[in-house]
Amino acid sequence: MDFALTEELEMIRDSAREFAERALKPHAARVDAEESFPDQALAEAAENGFLGLTVPEEFGGAGLGNLHSAVLLEELNRWDPSVGVTISVHMSLVCSCINKWGTQEQKEKYLPRLASGEMIGAYCLTEPQAGSDAANLKCRADKVDGGWKLNGTKSWITTGEQAGLYLVYAVTDSAGRRGHNIGAFLVERVFDGVVVGKKEAKLGLRGSSTTEMIFEDVLLPEENLLGDGSNGFKIALDTLDGGRIGIASQALGIHRACLEESLQYSKDRQQFGKPIGEFQAIAWKLADMATSLEANRMLVHKAAWLRDAGEPCTKVCSMAKLAASKACNLAAQEAVQIHGGAGYTKEFPVERHYRDARITEIYEGATDIQRLVISRHL
Ligand code: CAA
Repeated sequence: MDFALTEELEMIRDSAREFAERALKPHAARVDAEESFPDQALAEAAENGFLGLTVPEEFGGAGLGNLHSAVLLEELNRWDPSVGVTISVHMSLVCSCINKWGTQEQKEKYLPRLASGEMIGAYCLTEPQAGSDAANLKCRADKVDGGWKLNGTKSWITTGEQAGLYLVYAVTDSAGRRGHNIGAFLVERVFDGVVVGKKEAKLGLRGSSTTEMIFEDVLLPEENLLGDGSNGFKIALDTLDGGRIGIASQALGIHRACLEESLQYSKDRQQFGKPIGEFQAIAWKLADMATSLEANRMLVHKAAWLRDAGEPCTKVCSMAKLAASKACNLAAQEAVQIHGGAGYTKEFPVERHYRDARITEIYEGATDIQRLVISRHL
């Protein structure tokens, strides 16, 4: 057993940290205020090879795993979770899914373009009536000569506006057994009938675009079916195990931001003649924030390590997502409390961290869905 990062993981952490401080930190507040998608940051992330981190080398990536992406994502989310979620979805829900479930032709066609950033990936599972109950899809793919015809509406799609490739789940057999009647499809933005719908105005992660996606009689060639046409829900849930490591890593990054900002503020801010960090009430909050960050990082890295080893990981991935997102939200609440009135204003970044933290307990399976998954495994 070894708790140290390998030299390779340290290199990824250091280069991601340098990138995030240079390319994300200066723009994060503006991106949030203007709700502007961070195109430039993503282009630079692609140049650094981050978008292809988990794509095999033969398809233009770095061929690394979930542990590497967890380390990378903590660093990016420390400064900008809008960029963090965009890359997490691209990497853990789209690239990894094609790599695991795709045919050789699908990998050759799409992975190099995803790794280079020519295409950003989006994951289209959720529908208005299918949030936590993800199998309850209405989006339909009907068999036609040479392929499929896709119809339906997806909601809450991360990077809906900018994506070049959508991984879309749709019912292929409306009379079939629930959860065994869904197909997974690779849908290019340029296909006729792919329409970007309403953009959501959000509490946090305001730089990431979250949209409705409408598919109107989209003709898909047979080769764009991922899997066998009936195992799409299994593919979706298996893929979400990996995605949950990504969101748990995002929670670590936001948590660390809250701790670091609070530590600095507690040294700078004087009350009753001394820095507020010298009061036990503040020092103990910082100690708790630091301890839960350390503990959750170990859990997240264990989930990533299990998935990379090909071991059963569903329970631990859900534990990591549950624990890290709850701890992150508590840290954000404490960070605002330590900052007092200042933390309630946009003068200090903890106001933004408080808003950004909230979604980590909601998307990629809300907190109670993680509890459901974990309890089913006990
Ligand atoms: N891996 C592989 N297969 C799995 C699996 C996993 N992790 N979990 C379940 N399965 C299999 C089951 O074994 C079952 O197969 P059989 O019928 O052959 O036994 C099948 O999949 C269906 O599983 P369940 O019976 O458990 O399905 P359910 O309808 O009870 O739903 C659920 C389970 C956990 C509630 C699931 O619907 C769920 O995770 N809901 C939350 C949805 C979610 O996370 N959405 C995120 C959207 S993406 C997003 O947010 C991205 C973003 O933008 C940031």
